[in-house]
Amino acid sequence: MNKYPVKDASPVIIMKLVIFGPPSAGKGTQAQKLSKKYGIPQVATGDLLREHVAKKTQIGIKVKSYLDSGRLGPDELIVQMIGERVSRPDCINGYLLDGFPRTIGQAQELEKMTDVDLVLNIVVDFEALAERAVGRRSCPKCAAVYHIEFNTPKVQGICDKCGSKLIQRDDDKEETVRNRFRVFKEQTAPLIEYYRKKGKILDIDGSGGIDAVFGRLVAAIETIRT
Ligand code: AP5
Repeated sequence: MNKYPVKDASPVIIMKLVIFGPPSAGKGTQAQKLSKKYGIPQVATGDLLREHVAKKTQIGIKVKSYLDSGRLGPDELIVQMIGERVSRPDCINGYLLDGFPRTIGQAQELEKMTDVDLVLNIVVDFEALAERAVGRRSCPKCAAVYHIEFNTPKVQGICDKCGSKLIQRDDDKEETVRNRFRVFKEQTAPLIEYYRKKGKILDIDGSGGIDAVFGRLVAAIETIRT
């Protein structure tokens, strides 16, 4: 993490964070809140990929079948997409990576790009994950995330932020959810040990409500800001 003084202002703190956890742990929900609090953009691989699929870009056409089946897209393509995204001007004071890296190969490529300050590992038990996955509703336009019970929009089925009709994600079908959990266990969970060895990861209790988890994440981030 870098701090540099700005004339007549408090020092700017550059933070590069990774929000990590199994499918439906609450990464996107928390990343949106943290992004607002700290003024750094959320860079969510899943959202970027879904946008490519919706727009039928070259990347979208290549990754559609991976998303539909819950498999991970090719490292090379994902790394290139993230490299391009974090080089945009809004990332100058840092960013919050949500859903990246997801393999050891991606983590090694990320290291070549930059040094992350902290990996926040949201830990949630399986029953709560399943409950969160089943009730999720998402905005296809602005990527806001809701839950039919735990985080309801003001008007049922309508996004508070942009007024679009909320949807259930295609990959939230039962069989695909099962596959996403399996893929997490096999390909993504080894990153916990990888970052543990580097002393860069903090486990965050992901149980309880959204605000309770947010409070724990903020407390963890504050430890590296002081
Ligand atoms: P992605 O979109 O990243 O999916 P994911 O990791 O499975 O994560 P989710 O979006 O399902 O969950 P989340 O942890 O963000 O939880 P959320 O906040 O929504 O990736 C999708 C696909 O893209 C992958 O399967 C893969 O194909 C591809 N892909 C993505 N990244 C890739 C990469 N790096 N490499 C290769 N391929 C990649 O919360 C879930 C629900 O719970 C919501 O309804 C929310 O309201 C609710 N909720 C959240 N917190 C709480 C709480 N504390 N209490 C109660 N409810 C809560």
